[in-house]
Amino acid sequence: MVRRSGADRRRGEEVPVPMGDVLTVQGGRPVDGRVAVRGAKNFVSKAMVAALLGETPSVLRNVPEIRDVSVVTGLLGLHGVDVSRPADGVVVMDPTDVESAHVADIDAHAGASRIPILFCGPLVHRLGEAFIPDLGGCRIGDRPINYHLDVLRQFGAVVDKREGGIRISAPDGLRGTRIELPYPSVGATEQVLLTAVRAEGFTELHGAATEPEILDLVAVLQKMGAIIGVDTDRTIRVEGVERLRGYDHRALTDRIETASWACAALATRGQVFVEGATQPEMMTFLNVFRKVGGEFEVTDEGIRFWSPGGPLRAIALETDVHPGFMTDWQQPLVVALTQADGLSIVHETVYENRFGFTEALGGMGARIQVYRECLGSTPCRFGGAHFRHSAAISGPTPLHGADIVVPDLRGGFSYLVAALAATGVSRVRGIELIDRGYERFAEKLEALGADADWSTGARADRSQPVPA
Ligand code: EPU
Repeated sequence: MVRRSGADRRRGEEVPVPMGDVLTVQGGRPVDGRVAVRGAKNFVSKAMVAALLGETPSVLRNVPEIRDVSVVTGLLGLHGVDVSRPADGVVVMDPTDVESAHVADIDAHAGASRIPILFCGPLVHRLGEAFIPDLGGCRIGDRPINYHLDVLRQFGAVVDKREGGIRISAPDGLRGTRIELPYPSVGATEQVLLTAVRAEGFTELHGAATEPEILDLVAVLQKMGAIIGVDTDRTIRVEGVERLRGYDHRALTDRIETASWACAALATRGQVFVEGATQPEMMTFLNVFRKVGGEFEVTDEGIRFWSPGGPLRAIALETDVHPGFMTDWQQPLVVALTQADGLSIVHETVYENRFGFTEALGGMGARIQVYRECLGSTPCRFGGAHFRHSAAISGPTPLHGADIVVPDLRGGFSYLVAALAATGVSRVRGIELIDRGYERFAEKLEALGADADWSTGARADRSQPVPA
């Protein structure tokens, strides 16, 4: 069970815990139960931005209650979009009164978020200009925005870097163009889509990302009146239209959260039924899950994941863009691999700095060595640049409880998995960062029989969320 305690429940009689909320987990028992997973964080926020392009209200369904959704709700509100939640999981966005935003307010609402960069195309189409504050994001690499700015310039936008952010305008309007991305970036592909649909003429994008969340965004834009073709060779063709209307759409399930719970089942030798999980978006993960020794059963309501007993098997794995193994599946899987027999290798090819979380796992008994070399054959941009982007995990190693601090969203969830698998007590600090991408995860832990106590401490400014 998950108990809530802490400074706010104790009516201030105790000194608050510094550096955020703490989840105290008594680990060492298998998770067992059912959790429901709703719309994908990395789709819902983009579909909400798309609502800005319509002339009539949009309805998005299956929307989770996570902080990233609140961030985009705040940003849309500043631009005159009336956002309401008439029912659980339903968000209605009425853009009929879109108006110029107050720059200082944008800054306060965006915090260190990366989502505002995707407001550029829609805002320039609606208002003639956009101001985007300096962006942050999870500390998993440099996370530059050069592809976004290059794309906008190719559409004819003028990018003016100013103190605290960038101003984008398009004195001659945005015009369709031919774009070649240097890497199939998810965000840059979304930037092209959200800009091209209302640009004058045709846009041809080569080297596009084709993640399921992007294809669901294409579906949303098509419902709005856009004309978009996706070819088999990563080419996307868009025929600009003058007007778009609102949409009614049900978000695809979050495949990162699904895999996170599946890894908790594997690492603790338990079982989890993930309600809402769908097979097509999970195929690459399911193959790996089976190779490591996990079992699953796909039903119409979701997917059940379990560990059938017997040793887990070590594997060699490379993260990649879709349809490869997602970079966001890697962290909880690495925790499960600490329990596998032999040496597993994970080569991270999407972000240059995504193994920082493994250091704390070492303090819990894991044996993980991180290397600068490419330990794999997928072409990777980081090998010669000395980034520590490959990991070798020796197992099985029993994990023991420890005090750990959440480094970023996915690394943070992997610490929960480690704490559940470890014998003894772990204190995971900064746990509120996890609500950004995992809806009601404490209730879900409870549903899975976890023994955990959430204490609310003094925290870093929660008005400054850091979406991934
Ligand atoms: N990149 C550049 N320049 C750019 C943009 C990207 O060099 O202008 C590089 C990045 O540094 C990275 C690579 O290209 O090395 C891929 O980045 P991409 O643009 O694909 O990522 P993103 O759009 O910023 C989204 C998700 C991430 C997810 C990646 C990859 C959202 C809000 N974030 O990020 O999700 O890991 O795609 O699938 O959609 C998370 O959910 O925890 C998370 C980090």
